[in-house]
Amino acid sequence: LYIVHIAVEMAPIAKVGGLGDVVTSLSRAVQDLNHNVDIIFPKYDCLNLNHVTDLHNQRSYSWGGTEIKVWFGKVEGLSVFFLEPLNGFFSKGCVYGCGNDTQRFGFFCHAALEFLHQGGFNPDIIHCHDWSSAPVTWLFKDHYMHYSLTKSRVIFTIHNLEFGAHFISKAMAYADKATTVSRTYSKEVAGNPAISPHLHKFHGILNGIDLDIWDPYNDKFIPISYNSENVVEGKRAAKEALQQRLGLKKSDFPLVGIVTRLTHQKGIHLIKHAISRTLERDGQVVLLGSAPDPRIQNEFVNLAKQLHSSHRDRACLCLTYDEPLSHLIYAGADFILVPSIFEPCGLTQLTAMRYGSIPVVRKTGGLYDTVFDVDNDKARAEAQGLEPNGFNFDGADFGGVDYALNRAITAWYDSRDQFNSLCKRVMEQDWSWNRPALDYMELYHAAKKY
Ligand code: ADP
Ligand code: GLC
Repeated sequence: LYIVHIAVEMAPIAKVGGLGDVVTSLSRAVQDLNHNVDIIFPKYDCLNLNHVTDLHNQRSYSWGGTEIKVWFGKVEGLSVFFLEPLNGFFSKGCVYGCGNDTQRFGFFCHAALEFLHQGGFNPDIIHCHDWSSAPVTWLFKDHYMHYSLTKSRVIFTIHNLEFGAHFISKAMAYADKATTVSRTYSKEVAGNPAISPHLHKFHGILNGIDLDIWDPYNDKFIPISYNSENVVEGKRAAKEALQQRLGLKKSDFPLVGIVTRLTHQKGIHLIKHAISRTLERDGQVVLLGSAPDPRIQNEFVNLAKQLHSSHRDRACLCLTYDEPLSHLIYAGADFILVPSIFEPCGLTQLTAMRYGSIPVVRKTGGLYDTVFDVDNDKARAEAQGLEPNGFNFDGADFGGVDYALNRAITAWYDSRDQFNSLCKRVMEQDWSWNRPALDYMELYHAAKKY
C-alpha cells in the first residue's frame, strides 16, 4: 500500500512527546514491511536539520492566498515532504504554543491535502494524528475524496483525548477508521461522547518502540554496549556514568529514574512523593522532565533547590528536555517510575525495558497493558505469553505508589541475583513494532474495503 502521514511532530527533528516517536517509528516499521510511506510535515524554523539528509527545494505551489515551498528530505530513512508557506506560519515557535496553533495547523492540513491533489498523488491511506491533524478527516471528505484523492481512506489516531476533544469528536465522525494507542485506553475512553457513537470503527492498537533508535548495544550516549548477555556490566557502567555526570555519589544505590513531561497527566503529586520515599529507602533519584506550565516548572525548580541542599549526592532533578541524557537514564537506572493518572500508551516504560530497567507504573491505559507485576500478575502475563516484568499499583494516593515502590526497592536489596535475572528477562521481551505494525496493516486493508 501507499501510506501518507500528515503530522506535526516527528522524532528526532521536531519531537515534543511520544506522538513524534510514533510517527517516525510506525512509519519505519510499515516501510520495512515493503509498503511505501511518505510523511508531510511543516517546515518549522526549529527543525533539527542534523537529522535530515538530502534536503532540497523541489517546487512551489499556491494555496490559500500564499505560496508554499515544498522541500524534500530523508529522516531516519523516511521520505518527508516539508511544506513552507511563505505567510510565515512556521517560522517562529517550535511546534506548539504560538497562540494561533489551531489556525496554523488547520492551514497546514488543508495545504497538505492540496499538495497531494496538485502533485497527482493518490495514496491508499492518509493517516493523521490527534487534534493537530484532525482537520484532514473532514477537509478530505468535504473537498477531495470525490474528485481527486479517490483511492484514499483516512485513518485517525488518538494519542491523547485530553487535547482538543472538540476536534477529535468531529474527526471521529469523518474518519474511515480510528485508533487509539492501547487496548485498555480504548476501553477507558469508550464512554466518552466523542468516541461512543463510533465504537464500530474504533480500535486499540498498542504502540511499539523502534529497536534501532533505542538500542543499548548501539547507543552513542551510553558508555558501553550491552544486551541481555552482559546487562549487569552494561548497566553498572551506565549508572556510574550517570552518577558522575550529575554529581551523585558513585556507589551502588537502587536508582529510580523518571523521564517525563511534567503535567497533571503524569501524576505530579505521586512523582514528588516517590522522590521522598526513594530517599527514605536510601536510594538515588534522577528526574528528567520539563513542564509546559510555568507554575509546575517553578514548583520543581524549588524542589530541585531543596534537594540540592539536603540530598545533593542522592537526588538530581534536571528540568529540561535532553534526549542524550534520557538514554543514559534509561540505561543507568534500576527502575523507571511512571505513576501516570492516565496514559494512553506510554513509551518510557517500554524503553526502560529495552535497556533492562524495571518499570514501576500505575495501572492505567497502556501501562496496564505492558507492565505485569512480579507479585500479582503472573496469570495475566501468561495469558499474553509473557513473564511478569515490573511492579504496579492502583489508586492515585500515596499508599498505592508506596506499595509498588517499596516492593521494587526491597527486591533490589534482597537478592541481586534475582534482580539481575529480572533485568535480563525484561530486556528480552519484545515491545517493538513487529506485532503492532501488522495490526495497522490489517486495519489499513480493512479501511480499503470499507
Ligand atoms: P507523552 O507522549 O505523553 O509525553 P510517552 O511516554 O508516550 O509520553 O512519550 C514520551 C517521549 O518523550 C519518550 O520518548 C521520552 O523518552 C521522551 N521524553 C519525555 N520527557 C523528556 C525529557 N525531559 N527529555 C528527553 N526526552 C523526554
Ligand atoms: C500521547 C500519550 C502517550 C502515548 C503517546 C504516543 O502523548 O500521552 O501515552 O504513548 O501519545 O502515542
